Amino acid sequence: MRADELRESYIRFFVERFHIHRPSDSLVPTDDATLLFTGAGMNQFKEMLLGRGKLPFTRAVTSQKCLRTGDIPNVGRTAGHHTFFEMLGNFSFGDYFKKETITWAWEYLTKILKIDADRLRVSVYEDDQASYDIWKDEVGVPEARIHRFDAKENFWPADAPTKGPNGPCGPCSEIFYDQGPEYDCGKPDCGPDCDCDRYVELWNLVFTQFERAEGGKLTPLPSKNIDTGMGLERTLAVLNGKPNNFETELFWPIIQRIEAAARKEYERTTDVGRRMRRIADHVRAVTFCIADGVLPSNEGRGYVVRKLLRIATNDGLQLGIQHPFLHHVVDEVCKIMGSAYPEVKAREDYINKVVKKEEFKFRVTLKVGLRTLRENEATLKERGVEVLPGKILFWLHDTCGLPTEVTESSTELIVNE
Ligand code: ALA
Repeated sequence: MRADELRESYIRFFVERFHIHRPSDSLVPTDDATLLFTGAGMNQFKEMLLGRGKLPFTRAVTSQKCLRTGDIPNVGRTAGHHTFFEMLGNFSFGDYFKKETITWAWEYLTKILKIDADRLRVSVYEDDQASYDIWKDEVGVPEARIHRFDAKENFWPADAPTKGPNGPCGPCSEIFYDQGPEYDCGKPDCGPDCDCDRYVELWNLVFTQFERAEGGKLTPLPSKNIDTGMGLERTLAVLNGKPNNFETELFWPIIQRIEAAARKEYERTTDVGRRMRRIADHVRAVTFCIADGVLPSNEGRGYVVRKLLRIATNDGLQLGIQHPFLHHVVDEVCKIMGSAYPEVKAREDYINKVVKKEEFKFRVTLKVGLRTLRENEATLKERGVEVLPGKILFWLHDTCGLPTEVTESSTELIVNE
């Protein structure tokens, strides 16, 4: 299945169930000043979930552009972490609740996408007996494949009762795809809550029924709502039998562009593959940010864009690419994503120029920084020092603009933040 088909089939499935198809919000949240970037499909509906906004409809479906900065260190290292990704979601504002959400999710995965039901596992919040019973009795999932987890895994936002943030929240139920024992990490307790690549979390169904306030107080909302999020990239990988999101049509042509620039073949398990995956992810994110009006700068959102570009520039250099090339990667991103997100295609030339200029400027200071790092590294190694001193890390950041991630991925010394 193609990415465009997956997006369309999801939206059609829920439109047929009387959901209004709403466009993706910008990566710069329209209605929520507390957020740096839109990180979930529900962001644009926050007021409606809280029962405060106008309620022009009670069911919605979206394919939302999302950006999460918390996963930057994992990008490239795992099969499925991204900064920018697309979240497919269906929403109910005081309309349907657990039973419809769970049974529709199962129907969509097993009947429409035809995913083998025996490969699926589900989880519920530890004391959510109602969801457990729906999975067991209505859907017929064997009890051995229904897991009960605590608020870290099965509350959204994770651990919201104790840690926040304030706002709409609730217990959730997740659906995982089992890639098989060959992907097992070998830990005796490896299961859907493990961080390894065996269980791919496909879909999170959130039963948004509380508002969290300062101190952790949970007040029931005026109505019970639904907020779901399905990862498009992961689901596409599963549907196409790819163990890694970067090997799907959403990324593979980008990786091939990078291979051509580096004159090196992609290697799934080495540093070469890791750097290529990171460049692909970061340039995709930057392309979408610039299309939504976020330009590289030294603070806030703009700094995220600058940092992602700097990490990608360094990865390019470490792969042996001697000249600015990220703008060519932008072209590939626009080709792949342009039909679903025309704003990206419309601003392609502009994005291309911004990225080219930024990479060109950074390459100059990056080379100075890396040379200084090498010199210090040699002296430190001679003295048997294994940890890079904080003052050198700071100097590289302050004088040469090297983000910690760049220094870390360019040295054999240990880097403590
Ligand atoms: N808001 C939920 C999530 O981001 C669906 O996982």
